[in-house]
This record gives sequence, structure tokens and C-alpha cells, in this order.
Amino acid sequence: MVRKTLIAGNWKMNCHLEDGITLAKGVAQEAKKRARKDCEFLICPPFTLLMAAKKAIKGSRVMLGAQDCHFAASGAHTGDVSPQMLKDLGCQYVIVGHSERRTNHYESDELIAKKASAAIEAGLKVIICIGETEKERDENKTIEVCTTQIMGSVPENATAQNTVIAYEPVWAIGTGKTPTSQDVEDVHAAIRKVISKKLGRANANKMRILYGGSMKPSNAKELLNLPDVDGGLIGGASLKVEDFIAISEASKQ
Ligand code: 13P
Repeated sequence: MVRKTLIAGNWKMNCHLEDGITLAKGVAQEAKKRARKDCEFLICPPFTLLMAAKKAIKGSRVMLGAQDCHFAASGAHTGDVSPQMLKDLGCQYVIVGHSERRTNHYESDELIAKKASAAIEAGLKVIICIGETEKERDENKTIEVCTTQIMGSVPENATAQNTVIAYEPVWAIGTGKTPTSQDVEDVHAAIRKVISKKLGRANANKMRILYGGSMKPSNAKELLNLPDVDGGLIGGASLKVEDFIAISEASKQ
């Protein structure tokens, strides 16, 4: 089963206009020059930079995504952005259910499923994030937590074509810590089984499952070459052109 590697950068709440444009342009240029032809690139800047980033990557192989959306198409939702608005802007992807939103904005699996479903309806692809906290890991609840999150936050209209899962252990995000390769592979394989139960075997075999959490050039090769790891959702290292591209170079050959 060949699943195309996806190297996705989650810029989080970083970059202003000038450095955001420089970063997006740099990724587009280096991806053209150096990176493997058979992997996909995605950058997810903050809302304020989407338009500028779209122009900066125009004509390149780099795709554009957002970091969140509302589930409604329009209406009285101050501060929110709808999937249709993101689509208008040229986004192909949207991240939903990142642990920083689950924690800081109290987002539930149910809400995340509604967002994902609406984004798919609007023609976007979704990256649905899941992952356990350090406490949950210490209590050996990793698979249980990921199972609950998948069952609750992956919507009924999800398919391998419109949905990507990102496994991001919360304790590995921005900490420099990562699980062992064996642990990552075990969790990814378990996630694939749960997807199979929810969406059928064909979808499970084709759906991409990314790893996220302190991925960097020095550990990318080991992580990205695991059988059930189909790419990375990269935070800190996506803010440096060199690191982001180097990660892609380390991916499955
Ligand atoms: P870091 O790569 O900075 O650990 O962030 C991972 C992440 O949260 C991507 O969504």
C-alpha cells in the first residue's frame, strides 16, 4: 500500500507579514530545488498570513492550510472563520482538534467532528489531531485515549481521500521529547485498526497517519521510515526552511 508522504508545517501563532512571506517563499523554492518529488508539502500559517502565503507559494508544489475553522458556513460567530472562507482563500487543508485547541479552547471530540465534517463538506481536506497527555501515557492509557478520540472526532463523511490523522503525544509537543520508534509504530498501527473499525479496511489502508511532536531533521529519518508513519505534522522545525526541507529529505525513499 503506497501512501504519499505528507510533510505539513503547523506554524501555530508565529510569524508576521514579512518573515511569514520569506518563510513561505523559502519553502516553495527549496521544495522545488531539493525535495523528493513524491512527497507532498503543506504549510499552515495563522489566518492573518493565509493570503500573503498563498501569493508567496503560487505556482509551487506547496499547498496551503489553516489551523482551525468553525463548523458553520457563516453567521454570528465573532472571531471565527468558516471552512468556506478558507476554501475561498485557496486553502486545501485545515487542521482540527490540535491539542492546543483541545486544551486552551476546551474543544471536545464532538465539536471537532462537527468542524471536520463541515470542512469536508466545503471541499477541504482535514488533519484531525489526537494524542495522549503525559499522565495518560504513564497510566498506560495511550491506545485507549487515541481510540476514544478517533471514534469521537472523526466524522462519518471522513474517507482516506479527505482525511489525515495526526498522532501528536501532548508531552512530545515543543519539548524535544519523542516516544521510541517502537512506541510510535505501535500507536500508529493501533490507530489504523481503529480507523478500520470506524471507516472500513479500504479507508484504513489508504488513510495517512502523520506523527507530530518534536520532529526535527535529526530524528525524522527514523520516525518517517516506520511502516505506519505517513508523514509529519511539524511545529517548531517548520519555521526554518532548512529544517523543514531536511525533514522531507529524510522521509521514506
Ligand atoms: P513541535 O514540532 O514544535 O513539537 O510541534 C508539534 C505540533 O504541535 C504540530 O502540530
